[in-house]
Amino acid sequence: MTADPADVPAPVVDPRLMREVLGHFASGVTVVTAMTTDGPIGFTCQSFSSLSLDPPLVAFAPARTSGTWSRLRAAGQFCVNVLAEEQSGLSQAFARSGTDKFAGVSWAPSPHGSPMLDGVVAWIDSQLWAEYDGGDHTIAVARVLDLGADPRRSPLVFHRGSYGIQTSPDLS
Ligand SMILES: Cc1cc2nc3c(=O)[nH]c(=O)nc-3n(C[C@H](O)[C@H](O)[C@H](O)COP(=O)(O)O)c2cc1C
Repeated sequence: MTADPADVPAPVVDPRLMREVLGHFASGVTVVTAMTTDGPIGFTCQSFSSLSLDPPLVAFAPARTSGTWSRLRAAGQFCVNVLAEEQSGLSQAFARSGTDKFAGVSWAPSPHGSPMLDGVVAWIDSQLWAEYDGGDHTIAVARVLDLGADPRRSPLVFHRGSYGIQTSPDLS
């Protein structure tokens, strides 16, 4: 018999502890972009993953507070740009609310017309397929339309709140 979740008091998890512990899960970094009538838009997104091969799906989780997500959602189609290791500056620039995130950024239209940033490791053109409740985030599932990679480039890694793998002092 499984417990009814309504009967179990929610454990109190300190958000700072959750952030600190889950920061040990190293990931790549993406910038999700779209073209709108007002120009290109985008936001830095670490919560990206491959989801399904048939149909071809990817997923990512925009915060409910993200102004850019509501505009990407309205565009319905976007490009997931997987950043290269020397692109931490782009990661920071696309994480700043209320700025011209594309100022000084080189890009070209992807096959489906979304901004593909120069020098990325991989790009995935996709179309919004479904959305699910993810607490203070939305789980966005997108159908892959086209994609490509440059195997000569290495990916940018985010680990324990910083770029690159954070090594700890030797315990031995
Ligand atoms: C390395 C890194 C990873 C991030 N990952 C996410 C993410 O997965 N989901 C998210 O909503 N915001 C993420 N952010 C924060 C957003 O990029 C940021 O809140 C957003 O760009 C704010 O702009 P907006 O108000 O235009 O949406 C990340 C930021 C950084 C620096």
